[in-house]
Amino acid sequence: MCGVVGYVGDRDCTDVLVDALSKLEYRGYDSAGIAVFEHGTIKVDKCKGRLSNLVEKMAEEGKPDGHCGIGHTRWATHGEPSDINSHPHGNKRVTIVHNGIIENYKQIKDFLITEGYSFVSETDTETVAKLLDYYYNGDPMETIARVLAEIKGSYALGIMFRDFPDRIFAVRKDSPLIVGVGENENFLASDVPAIIHYTRDYYLLEQNEIAIVKKDGVRIYDVHKNEIHKELNTADWDVDAAEKGGYEHFMLKEIHEQPTSVKTTITPRIAEHMPDFTAEGLTKEELKSYKNIFIVACGTAMHAGMVGKYVIEKIARIPVIVDIASEFRYRDPIIGENDLMIVISQSGETADTKAAMEMAKNAGATTLAIVNVKGSSIAREADKVIYTHAGPEISVASTKAYMVQVSIMYLLAFEIAYANGKLTKEQCEEYTTMLEEIPEVIEESIALKEKCQFLASRLINADSLLYIGRGLDYALSMEGSLKLKEISYIHSESYAAGELKHGTISLITEQMPVIAVATQHDLVEKTISNIKEVKARGAMVILVCDQDVDIEDGVADEIIKLPHADQLLMPMVAAAPLQLIAYYTSVLRGNDVDKPRNLAKSVTVE
Ligand code: M6R
Repeated sequence: MCGVVGYVGDRDCTDVLVDALSKLEYRGYDSAGIAVFEHGTIKVDKCKGRLSNLVEKMAEEGKPDGHCGIGHTRWATHGEPSDINSHPHGNKRVTIVHNGIIENYKQIKDFLITEGYSFVSETDTETVAKLLDYYYNGDPMETIARVLAEIKGSYALGIMFRDFPDRIFAVRKDSPLIVGVGENENFLASDVPAIIHYTRDYYLLEQNEIAIVKKDGVRIYDVHKNEIHKELNTADWDVDAAEKGGYEHFMLKEIHEQPTSVKTTITPRIAEHMPDFTAEGLTKEELKSYKNIFIVACGTAMHAGMVGKYVIEKIARIPVIVDIASEFRYRDPIIGENDLMIVISQSGETADTKAAMEMAKNAGATTLAIVNVKGSSIAREADKVIYTHAGPEISVASTKAYMVQVSIMYLLAFEIAYANGKLTKEQCEEYTTMLEEIPEVIEESIALKEKCQFLASRLINADSLLYIGRGLDYALSMEGSLKLKEISYIHSESYAAGELKHGTISLITEQMPVIAVATQHDLVEKTISNIKEVKARGAMVILVCDQDVDIEDGVADEIIKLPHADQLLMPMVAAAPLQLIAYYTSVLRGNDVDKPRNLAKSVTVE
């Protein structure tokens, strides 16, 4: 939700800001804007829509010329996407960009109006800019500290004071912000991909730390002006990781990266074909001590948790409750000291997931975060962390992050099952070895892409469709359905196949295609019966199944036969074809695959 960048150095500031923003557009693309010091004054350029609109505007009207500035790409919360609501906000004296939400902005705004201020936008951000102006006393640090004491909510702020044209200021709370450290140039960004072209070294700002970023150095202080000496982090990402690398879209690239991402994620957690989480501080004794396991997440990450639930319950025989984070936090859940809460998040910044985790911690539960982005808020606040090593996921539609989350769920399930005696060492070794072999099988399933493209051509005119499955296939079909709807804009639901007859089957007509996922051998007959029921009512059925399953002719209109793996691991094999069907459907409908409408990659508001 919104991307913030900043630059101070010898390069053309506008060019750097635009380039950095282009790497953060996944965080929002309702508008873009920059502010640059030009001959001692703050020059602002901003407009509604994609960054490309801003670039075109500046090409026509002239771009700011300077070496110090801030930039923003917006996912609208307060106020519709418009030129006026675009960031930066402020006046000639103080200008800011903001990611987050100021909860008490209305009170501040009302107060400032009584003090003679007027407002042009509907944003919460403008109130912070004007409050900074109100308190400004010539000392930016003091002014910022004063404002921080008054605002409530979440923020990552890039701030420029007219009187200090050689520097930018930065502060964060509950929204991510890093300070990139280069040679005679320094940066500000919401996320590493924005700066990786220029430097790999960065500081992670902690809550309410204030950074002063100048060309020749970065200094970080607490709100009482005490200097803080922080450890420099180094991004281990490949520079090309944030580029499309010859693929038409990030999503397609990321689908193809899945075998490698899984390998990189599981290899450090396997020793001699057995799960090994000792580096994460997770012992067998601990893992077998929990009474209940909660898995809480949002969207795709929650679907990875659904797979985790089936697998942990099936082989470790421990009750697992999976919850959508936004539901968990408001349903007064029964969770306590003997429970483990696993939170799953690619970004590590999802507001609801973070809040749910905090609730669990306060209730005395142990929290374990499965997170992709290093140093993210959830990773920092959890009791234990397992990092997935998917590298940056740029496409809003999550693919490789899901796959690696699922791979960790399997390894955890094996470890818990072995720890509590539900699997023998031999059985655990056997499962783990199968998981080690799964990247090659995923590779084979990605090779089915031409078939997926053809299947997509059969879906593009549908207004609505249904995914059905049972057990693990149901968990997987939830993800298939979400992927399709979010990027193709075709309405889609997933249903437990056995539940169809209790209402939903009345929707079935010739206009309602059904995608049936049937990879679980012991349930396939039952799902086939459900397929027959929908086919008898005119639905065009696409069946996704294991190549080893015997399917009688004519059961489905189209069949996609997956490379074989143990049925427990089939979600990892079937996921890629479902992602590819969604991908090609979106492409064929002419949509912006990587930036679907109304969405942002990282949802830092509730
Ligand atoms: O960063 P997170 O994994 O916490 O994000 C959770 C969801 O917002 C995310 O998985 C979303 O559903 C995906 N973009 C869907 O593809």
